Amino acid sequence: MKKFFIYGAPASGKSTLGRRLAAALGAKFVDLDDAVVERAGASIPEVFAARGEAVFRDLESEALAAVVGDDSGDMVVSLGGGTLLREANRALCEKSGAVFCLDTPSDEELQRRLGAAPGSRPLGDRAKERAAHYAGFPARVAAFFEAQDSLVVVGRGIAAAMLKERAVVADATVAKLWKDRLGIEPLATIPSGEEHKTPATVAELWHAFAERGLGRRDVVCALGGGVAGDLTGFAAATWMRGIPWINFPTTLLSMVDASTGGKTGCDLAEGKNLAGAFHFPRLVVVDADFLSTLPEELLAAGKAEMIKHEVIAGVCAGGGTAKGVVPTAAEIAANLSVKVGIVREDPFERNGLRMKLNCGHTVGHAVEKLSGYALAHGEAVAIGCCEEARIAVRRGLAAESWPAELAARFAAAGLPTEIPPEIDRASIDETMKGDKKRAGDVVSFALPCGWGDVRIVPIDLGSERIYG
Ligand SMILES: NC(=O)c1ccc[n+]([C@@H]2O[C@H](COP(=O)([O-])OP(=O)(O)OC[C@H]3O[C@@H](n4cnc5c(N)ncnc54)[C@H](O)[C@@H]3O)[C@@H](O)[C@H]2O)c1
Ligand SMILES: [Zn+2]
Repeated sequence: MKKFFIYGAPASGKSTLGRRLAAALGAKFVDLDDAVVERAGASIPEVFAARGEAVFRDLESEALAAVVGDDSGDMVVSLGGGTLLREANRALCEKSGAVFCLDTPSDEELQRRLGAAPGSRPLGDRAKERAAHYAGFPARVAAFFEAQDSLVVVGRGIAAAMLKERAVVADATVAKLWKDRLGIEPLATIPSGEEHKTPATVAELWHAFAERGLGRRDVVCALGGGVAGDLTGFAAATWMRGIPWINFPTTLLSMVDASTGGKTGCDLAEGKNLAGAFHFPRLVVVDADFLSTLPEELLAAGKAEMIKHEVIAGVCAGGGTAKGVVPTAAEIAANLSVKVGIVREDPFERNGLRMKLNCGHTVGHAVEKLSGYALAHGEAVAIGCCEEARIAVRRGLAAESWPAELAARFAAAGLPTEIPPEIDRASIDETMKGDKKRAGDVVSFALPCGWGDVRIVPIDLGSERIYG
């Protein structure tokens, strides 16, 4: 039986995360504070006031020992803000499960959460006094969100415990690099590369599920980049008409983009992502530790989508996207929250908001295709965003200086900003007419017009030419 302990400063969100994580993992949830109250027959402030902190801590240790001794099933336990100050409690938790420590929210956020509630100052002060204590827990949660039917948890050092003893479909490269470190034996491995994102691979996964006897109550996990996530999610969506799945994205692109929108599928000879389904993972575990083995060009690919999110949201954060820098879990969480916010408002692309995520992608997809996929998707998106900013200027929708400003951001991330000379510009319009976001010859562009200013602009490529 697996146990997960959620720890962190007061008001860091332990109970909320614990309750949601338990639901997503199909585990029982226990709030240790509630267990203490039950034991004491009084509220925590009452115990503190009448019997003192030492008695409270004894009751807490007893309650913890009882919880640890409960072997009725998998369990997520949210601890009190000081439970692990006692070394014996810490040793007990670490021996019987995994401890995830929530990062302490910023002062402003803490103030917002605690509001004017009595005791708010001592709680905030306590978080500061114990900063070194909380920092001493290696498995960290930087943030968590709800995205449609998914719980998204972003941190580091958190994947291994959640992958243990689960049915895992892994990208072959990731399996080779990470299998031993994670202590897993995948149910199936997918050969690496977009060329394997095919119906044949989906069929192989179905056969692997059949062999393992996966039923409707089982949960399948995807471990890898966007390809592994899209394929595993699609296989889960179609296996027995849909079984739940958990996504463990391992590329920056899949962390900030592919893992959270609920889109799953595979490519056909006729085009990319043509066969697919919306099937939201129950849980998305974004563990930034995976980025330690990701080659620089794949980091850059993810940074292209990060900059796209910054354009959409109007936050020019910058730091984590610079060339050679590996973004932190907090930077990934902040960036991912842009997509999560949009997906929450428009999960199935119905009110046009989600189309903003297509920024830079109309030209981007066309140049990616015309390069014969020599350009990586992220490179194509960087070029596409810069080109679409130039289109916005030509239509009087953006300032003259905007494309150069945007191009500088992509260049700083080590990404290209111009259409390579070997690409036949005269074919770009025709290629864009094949875009999925079109009606007849009218293609809907999501043009970047400035920070926080992406506009959906339909352009009739039947009567108007953009290139050549
Ligand atoms: N579902 C969506 O909403 C959505 C959104 C964007 C993109 N996508 C899809 O995502 C795919 C692109 O994603 P991607 O760039 O992650 O591609 P990918 O899955 O092919 O991964 C790229 C490469 O990185 C390797 N890799 C993965 N993690 C690694 C790690 N931690 N260390 C070392 N190597 C690692 C893989 O083996 C692979 O060779 C495309 O198929 C695209 O259509 C889907
Ligand atoms: Zn993209």
